[in-house]
Amino acid sequence: MPTELESPAESSSPLKSSPQKIAVLPGDGVGVDVTVEAVKVLEAVKSRFQLPLELHEFPWNADRYLETGETMPDGALDDFRDHWSAIFIGAYGDERVPDMRHARDILLGIRFGLDLFINFRPIKLYDERLCPLKGKVPADVDLAVFRENTEGAYVGIGGNFKKGTPDEVAVQEEVHTRKGVERIIRAAFEYAVAHGRSRVTMSDKSNVMRFGHDLWQRCFAEVAEEFPGIETDHFYVDALAMQLIRAPERFDVIVTNNMFGDILTDLGAALQGGLGLAASANVNPGKVSMFEPVHGSAPKYAGTGRANPMAAMISAALMLDHLGHGEASKAVEDAVTQSLRELKCTPDVGGELSTSEVGDHVSRLIAEGGR
Ligand code: IPM
Ligand code: MN
Repeated sequence: MPTELESPAESSSPLKSSPQKIAVLPGDGVGVDVTVEAVKVLEAVKSRFQLPLELHEFPWNADRYLETGETMPDGALDDFRDHWSAIFIGAYGDERVPDMRHARDILLGIRFGLDLFINFRPIKLYDERLCPLKGKVPADVDLAVFRENTEGAYVGIGGNFKKGTPDEVAVQEEVHTRKGVERIIRAAFEYAVAHGRSRVTMSDKSNVMRFGHDLWQRCFAEVAEEFPGIETDHFYVDALAMQLIRAPERFDVIVTNNMFGDILTDLGAALQGGLGLAASANVNPGKVSMFEPVHGSAPKYAGTGRANPMAAMISAALMLDHLGHGEASKAVEDAVTQSLRELKCTPDVGGELSTSEVGDHVSRLIAEGGR
């Protein structure tokens, strides 16, 4: 986890309040299925470790948007910022909303609105048999991606000219600010120091993106000087895509822009055994942050019992860590790892259990103290 709780001066922060209120947004499709299981696991860990968690569900999804025209109520972000400790999301996306309006408002709205500039995505091989690469063991695939989460290609700046005609022009801008680039790079280095990682790799496409990605180059060189104990490394993103397949063991911490981080973490998910295991934390250190599996809403699997709830559970583990419950977080991760190794998992990762059977199994392991 990238962050530590803040100093005592910040003790009035909602993060540390008791109880810690968690907003649970299951969303659409399999988001609902996996959230039920992640909540089961949170309840198990809450009772084993006596955690002061209070979970509240918010029914904001495509159905509600189509019915009411509202994606998220006015003032919701202010409420989260001031009164909640964390937000947990299942997944968003529904074919009846082709422009993804509600998903954009809620998911990107929370990332941008709460200034959650770190998208922390661990890429970890929990069970050797799941790696698609020959001869790789868990120690070879154990890295963390720091994806910039508030600018880059995601700012939505652009427009069309002569739209719908043969002469149409579309412009879509990337935005990179010194503040934005510097803070994500610094967060990656700080994480490396705090977690005993020896190397930070920065990835861009500065050979083509001569202005925006050149800023990344300069910021990386400057921030690296503050961390003389950490090795640095750089790859253009195309070369990095190749290297991650050839030699994942050479990476510890990767820092990159919003869009490249999006793409590389799907590649990373494949190295772990698929999107069913890829977790993420959208963080602003010391502030209310948001946790979600990397996968989408996969509507065709909704309600079939086939969705893998483990990415949601590992995301819940990241949330527990952010809230200061490191031991509970580890208990969740260990229980998921054990379940995978015992083949107590869904078919996408080689098991025969249903979504809810996995939730029951992992919860039982937690309740029994991992025995
Ligand atoms: C992700 C997703 C989102 C993104 C989509 C749903 C907007 O792909 O979290 O990786 O591009 O960030
Ligand atoms: Mn993605």
